[in-house]
Amino acid sequence: MDLALLAALGALLCVCCSIEEGSAYTFRTFMGAEIATTAISSSAVVQRPCECRALCRNACVAVAIRRQPPRHFHCSFTDKPVADVNTTLTVPALGSKVFYKRLVCLPGFTLVDNVGCIYVSTVALNFTAAAASCPLDSQLFTANSLIDFNTMREYLLKSFTSKYTQFWIGLIHAPDSTWQWLGGGTIATTHPSQYWGKFDPNEPATVTSCGGMYLDPGLSYLYHLADAPCAKAYMFLCKQI
Ligand SMILES: *[C@@H]1O[C@H](CO)[C@@H](O)[C@H](O)[C@H]1NC(C)=O
Ligand SMILES: *[C@@H]1O[C@H](CO)[C@@H](O)[C@H](O)[C@H]1NC(C)=O
Repeated sequence: MDLALLAALGALLCVCCSIEEGSAYTFRTFMGAEIATTAISSSAVVQRPCECRALCRNACVAVAIRRQPPRHFHCSFTDKPVADVNTTLTVPALGSKVFYKRLVCLPGFTLVDNVGCIYVSTVALNFTAAAASCPLDSQLFTANSLIDFNTMREYLLKSFTSKYTQFWIGLIHAPDSTWQWLGGGTIATTHPSQYWGKFDPNEPATVTSCGGMYLDPGLSYLYHLADAPCAKAYMFLCKQI
């Protein structure tokens, strides 16, 4: 494919991924690195960095992005195996250079576009046991943004259609009574809320409650957040880290 055509394709594909700006979804970010010259399989010059990511498809394992003054971006692609990432694949590079590696899902995990690699448990456990039972290199799902959260809801709505299904995720009721994502960030409990179902959180203060995603279309819970006693057993969602 010639460069002009490749750039045009990148611009087109970029529409689909423009929401991923600023967040690592199916790509993991390494700052201060670029792909070693010997590992580069192809390259392109584009107008926006996300076009580089959009062009990293199929055989592409990683893409390095750097500014090409005055206002273009240069992408270098590699098809070399991910296992080589820390060794021969990259070389340190300062400043504006950024390296994106395609996140490859572990066995048992499903790639949910713009969210990451997700594992859905086959057993129901209480919250503590669930958090301890995420497979190696994963932890209870947390949303980095409303976009992540809604994309996850859409995936669950398509994949798990039984009414009253609830999944534990990495959301806890902290001692200061805020609702916190494991790993950082809080969610307000004011209504109307784009996260919480309209009657949640609603466990009495005497109960230790944890957060889950709940389906009850009759009450307009389309995998919106609901709290429940942490001791109850539910299936759970883990996200590869
Ligand atoms: C690469 O290096 C980083 C930091 O040194 C380390 O955390 C990571 O596990 C390494 N990844 C691989 C695939 O070896
Ligand atoms: C959670 O489940 C584990 C394993 O079944 C059990 O040992 C633990 O006591 C339970 N914790 C709570 C708070 O119910």
